Amino acid sequence: MAKGLLDLHNLLRWILLILLLLSIFKAFAGWRSKKAFSQGDRKTWLFTLIAAHINLLVGLYLWLWGRYGMLTTTAPPEGVTKSKFHLFFWIEHPAMMILSVIMITLAYRVAKKNLPDSVKYARVLWLFIVALLFILVAIPWPFRHDIGRPWLPGMGS
Ligand code: HEM
Repeated sequence: MAKGLLDLHNLLRWILLILLLLSIFKAFAGWRSKKAFSQGDRKTWLFTLIAAHINLLVGLYLWLWGRYGMLTTTAPPEGVTKSKFHLFFWIEHPAMMILSVIMITLAYRVAKKNLPDSVKYARVLWLFIVALLFILVAIPWPFRHDIGRPWLPGMGS
């Protein structure tokens, strides 16, 4: 099951990135053209929120019970902070991803608030941009030394 969830976690990353880019584009276009807030925008943001929350849940499972789960494997003898791999997958990656999911959740909350549309678009835009930056920094891209993971499931170990 952990292998299937890892593949899902890998694929959902792309879905989340695409939805997040689309959400940013919609927030920017709305803010720029001073248009009225639409249900289409809200739906795009909702799908982004759902993708982020599903990957958060899958990530939490992998973190606790996955191949290198905190509850199913032992810490490295040199200590977690000395092992780049464990530091990344046990602390940095989860912490940054949880922060980004919080920002995506806040953005969706702003969308539901009773605010002038231009303020709404501007706030959502910034929250999504910061969330995207956090995610881009925290993804174990294949070119990253020691922690790199495949672009897609099945492309590597
Ligand atoms: C929500 C945004 C997230 C994204 C975009 C994301 C992305 C990724 C990607 C691309 C991988 C590599 C997958 C592979 O090896 O094929 C990965 C691995 C991992 N992620 Fe996430 N992640 C997110 C959230 C989280 C969270 C919140 C946690 C923990 C609480 C987490 C824990 C892990 C762990 C433990 C691994 C390594 C699993 C293993 O190799 O067995 N992730 N993540």
